[in-house]
Amino acid sequence: MAEHTPPTEAAPAATTTPDKGRPVLVVDDVHLKYKTFGGKRRTGSSRLPGWARGFSQGVGAVDVVHAVKGVSFVAHHGESIGLIGHNGSGKSTLLRAVAGAMPVTSGAIYTDGVASLLGVSGALIKNLSGERNIILGCLALGLKPDEVAAHYEEVVEFADIGDFVRLPMEAYSSGMGARLRFAISTAASPDILMIDEALATGDASFKARSQRRIDEIRARAGTVLLVSHSMGTIKETCDRVLWLDSGVLRADGKPDEVIEAYMETQRAKVEASKK
Ligand SMILES: Nc1ncnc2c1ncn2[C@@H]1O[C@H](COP(=O)(O)OP(=O)(O)OP(=O)(O)O)[C@@H](O)[C@H]1O
Ligand SMILES: [Mg+2]
Repeated sequence: MAEHTPPTEAAPAATTTPDKGRPVLVVDDVHLKYKTFGGKRRTGSSRLPGWARGFSQGVGAVDVVHAVKGVSFVAHHGESIGLIGHNGSGKSTLLRAVAGAMPVTSGAIYTDGVASLLGVSGALIKNLSGERNIILGCLALGLKPDEVAAHYEEVVEFADIGDFVRLPMEAYSSGMGARLRFAISTAASPDILMIDEALATGDASFKARSQRRIDEIRARAGTVLLVSHSMGTIKETCDRVLWLDSGVLRADGKPDEVIEAYMETQRAKVEASKK
């Protein structure tokens, strides 16, 4: 297991795993920041006249959240990589950037092939039917119209939501929505499949089928990046684990070792909160 340096020091060297396929994703010293507008400032208005104070609060206040801080790693064909870390540690942000849905603040991300992000809050259009979302979702993944037609039945079958496929998605339960998102996202056999907590939703039979689908994608020499808070799921699915800790890549290595180190800090936090 490689312990990584904090962000203030030199960027950690990219990890290479010699027995794996060719590199398919390179994340090089990536920083990701969000800017939020309209937050109220706690200080700074005391020198203004009374009438202006209320006005200055909440106007023009910009907060910057530094979500990912100098993360570097290389993923190879055929690898299944788990991404773990406490709430707010930057996991979803990193996946969004790899999927191209968010620009990097600094550093670089290189991908070889199509990277598709499957999230529980993924962008399907709620007031359109499942059918329309399948067609639009597949087109958005880069499938050509004849390929969409060829995959359509397979997606419907995999989602297994029956006649609901004809209804607008706002009529779906969250589990049904997750099934459809999973089915669409995996229709295109992306080279890099990223899954953000999606396996946590859905019932046991859907979880088992999702697991088989992930295995199929890996067998086609694709690469899987999986975010989960379930260490059981990570151990079952992944052969390598990255641990993000407050935006910093704390460890990168074998699942057992990284999970143990992460759990140790979690246990320490629970103990500290009891005191
Ligand atoms: N749209 C946003 N605008 C501003 N800050 C954001 C936004 N999305 C996330 N953040 C912040 O970025 C940081 C990382 O969030 P992120 O969602 O990537 O964490 P995470 O590891 O996926 O957490 P979780 O386990 O809860 O899903 C957090 O401090 C969060 O508050
Ligand atoms: Mg998240």
